[in-house]
Amino acid sequence: MKVWAVANQKGGVGKTTTAITIGGTLSMRGKRVLLVDLDPHGSMTSYFGQDPDDLEPTVYDLFHKTASPEQVVIKSKYDNLSFLPASSAMATLDRQLGTNGGMGLVIKKSLASISDQYDYAIIDCPPVLGLLMVNALASCNHLLVPVQTEFLAAKGLERMVNTLNMIIKARKQPISYTIVPTFFDQRLRASHDTLKLLKATYNTKIWNGVIPIDTLFREASRRGVPLSIARPSSRGCRAYAHLLDYLLSLDSQSTEAKAPDLIL
Ligand SMILES: Nc1ncnc2c1ncn2[C@@H]1O[C@H](COP(=O)(O)OP(=O)(O)O)[C@@H](O)[C@H]1O
Ligand SMILES: [Mg+2]
Repeated sequence: MKVWAVANQKGGVGKTTTAITIGGTLSMRGKRVLLVDLDPHGSMTSYFGQDPDDLEPTVYDLFHKTASPEQVVIKSKYDNLSFLPASSAMATLDRQLGTNGGMGLVIKKSLASISDQYDYAIIDCPPVLGLLMVNALASCNHLLVPVQTEFLAAKGLERMVNTLNMIIKARKQPISYTIVPTFFDQRLRASHDTLKLLKATYNTKIWNGVIPIDTLFREASRRGVPLSIARPSSRGCRAYAHLLDYLLSLDSQSTEAKAPDLIL
């Protein structure tokens, strides 16, 4: 099983949308997908019709060992698509467990125990660099960092890369990552300028394409269906399908004994 995490400290940059859309596309291609909601806001969990304020068991229970991963997994109504739901109680995990040894590997171990049941796990990260984020980074083979193509978001990315660096130093292996420009508005000068700035700063770490603004994403989230399942031919989903092809091509390169050369 491959594990990808989607992270950015900034909210509203398209993390949840990226995780759900890519997960939906993989499931449509016949891959068995597990989406993992590590955000106490539980947007992904709500997306699939569950209430993060009133749901048990959830990822919270994995940390307290009150449920097994199999017990926590919920099958969505879509083929090949399951998820590990979040609850708002997860916001208290840092205070409860933050300093206990071994808590940084809870998700990695949980995923390992069910890894034969899925081809891909995609983790939606919280916008906070705490215990949950540490768990996501410890679990993933690759990190996706969506960033809005607007000037302030690009500045915020710099800060995030620095903070992530601190966490990643604790990891034995470097972590490979891809920056994904989102909310690209073709008509806006600011979108083009920011993209240029991002490419100049992060060159090979940035995906060559862009995710355009597509109002159908908001619509799909209201209806609780991944847009990549409802309307795979929409502009936004076609862009995500290209991103996915790129990520899969990175994977095939790394199986050819390419050392993980990308370090944040
Ligand atoms: N490419 C896009 N075009 C238009 N709206 C989008 C796009 N990506 C996400 N959205 C919408 O923007 C809002 C924030 O996106 P979301 O994925 O929840 O961000 P995050 O998880 O980073 O907070 C949601 O309402 C979502 O439907
Ligand atoms: Mg989110």
